[in-house]
Amino acid sequence: MSANPSSDLCSYAGKRVVVTGGATGIGSALVDLLREHDVEYITVLDIKEPTGAVDTFIRTDLSDPASVDAAIAALTGRIDVLFSNAGVAANAGVRTCMAVNVAASRRLADGLIDRIPEGGTIVFTASMAGNGWPAKLAEINTLLDIADWDEFLDWCEAHPEVVEDVYGFSKMCMQVYVMRSSYASIRRGVRINSICPAPVDTPLMADFRESMGDKVIDWSVTVQGNGRMAVATDIAPPLVFMGSDAASFINGVNLLVDAGFTAAMTTGQADFSGLA
Ligand SMILES: NC(=O)c1ccc[n+]([C@@H]2O[C@H](COP(=O)([O-])OP(=O)(O)OC[C@H]3O[C@@H](n4cnc5c(N)ncnc54)[C@H](O)[C@@H]3O)[C@@H](O)[C@H]2O)c1
Repeated sequence: MSANPSSDLCSYAGKRVVVTGGATGIGSALVDLLREHDVEYITVLDIKEPTGAVDTFIRTDLSDPASVDAAIAALTGRIDVLFSNAGVAANAGVRTCMAVNVAASRRLADGLIDRIPEGGTIVFTASMAGNGWPAKLAEINTLLDIADWDEFLDWCEAHPEVVEDVYGFSKMCMQVYVMRSSYASIRRGVRINSICPAPVDTPLMADFRESMGDKVIDWSVTVQGNGRMAVATDIAPPLVFMGSDAASFINGVNLLVDAGFTAAMTTGQADFSGLA
């Protein structure tokens, strides 16, 4: 309970929230922080059981459309905020990575949006790894036009020259999805945004080090203005903000949470010697 709830710009008092991937890492830190902001009810959808203070846990395998649909059916009542946060790295393979990171995120959002009242919101955890979307916008739009789960994944497997690094591509798709879907949703008062973190020291980091290599990860941290890797408690506050009424005029935004990495890259200030 905050000391003075009336001063909490990011209050979740009376709000019912769904968090995917709330068992570990960023999602687990988010659950803890939502509690500090007086959230009324938290449901977590995850393949693993969360240890945090959640009201309902629905075991869900987001790589399986039947499991996503079962979770949608099991969720009852009003949903004020959907935090679509679960994700996997490239090691999971093209199909699973695109299924969990994109197909399930979209299926859940599309399946739940009618239960989100005016003033409610969906916040995705995308990534700065998806910043390269402008170079692939036409292909990403073609892919996002495919509604069918299997056809969507078949397209990804059939286009390795587009997908390339599947994790980065999955997050490019999510950044574009946020911009595509938010224009329609705001007309009925529902905001859709994402936050785009730099590398974060969570259980997923071991998979990133394996799939991308230590050199790229360590270099990216040196480019950041503060020179340290983020931890989950650096990322949970921007998520809480994005999902709160304090962000009520923010829609269709992919918010960088990268300590200046993208700014350094965009303005030619990044030192690439660490990659040599
Ligand atoms: N760690 C980073 O460096 C980093 C950087 C940018 C963005 N992100 C994104 O942040 C989000 C959270 O990742 P994290 O770093 O906290 O990692 P994490 O591994 O700690 O958390 C991921 C969560 O997703 C759940 N999950 C994985 N596969 C699932 C499945 N098939 N069905 C249901 N749940 C499943 C896991 O059980 C876990 O609770 C992801 O979307 C990730 O892509 C992470």
